[in-house]
Amino acid sequence: MSVLYFFICVTLAQDFKLKYKTATKPVRLFTEEELSRYDGSEEAQPIYMALKGVVFDVSSGQEFYGKDAPYNALAGKDCTRAVAKMSLEPADLTSDTTSLTEDELKSLDSIFEGTYKAKYPIVGYTASRILNDDGSPNKDFKPEDQPHFQIRDEF
Ligand code: HEM
Repeated sequence: MSVLYFFICVTLAQDFKLKYKTATKPVRLFTEEELSRYDGSEEAQPIYMALKGVVFDVSSGQEFYGKDAPYNALAGKDCTRAVAKMSLEPADLTSDTTSLTEDELKSLDSIFEGTYKAKYPIVGYTASRILNDDGSPNKDFKPEDQPHFQIRDEF
């Protein structure tokens, strides 16, 4: 009887652990304002930029994104549209993908995969990628698509 009791306790404890395991490396969510602090203007700070709502640490690309570097305008923000269109126009420095062409979306995906995912560590996600404006979950968010992101470890 006591053996059976022991097994029930162990099973329940394991179940509890699985359900309530605390995340060791929580996902970091960036508001626009937070992301803007990592725009390369302060040398002691890392440089972050986001593409498709995924925030990358691009500090190792200082020569591209650092202060006075050619692509500094992309740093500290989600500039999905600019990268898709290969544009540095201020109006394109946004995550808005409205009316991008098929070719631009393809080019964006290839840069996202071939350059950013391959080269830079992911440090988090933009809040708007995970949450809709009303705070409800964004059902299109697929963390399992991302490398460096172990969904079981994160949640
Ligand atoms: C005259 C125009 C341009 C030239 C000659 C040029 C040239 C280059 C070169 C040589 C690289 C470096 C490749 C490497 O070393 O790995 C590069 C990377 C890149 N370029 Fe341009 N580029 C131009 C315009 C633009 C514009 C308008 C954008 C706007 C978004 C852009 C976005 C990028 C990005 C995102 C990278 C990847 C940087 C990285 O590896 O982190 N480029 N470009």
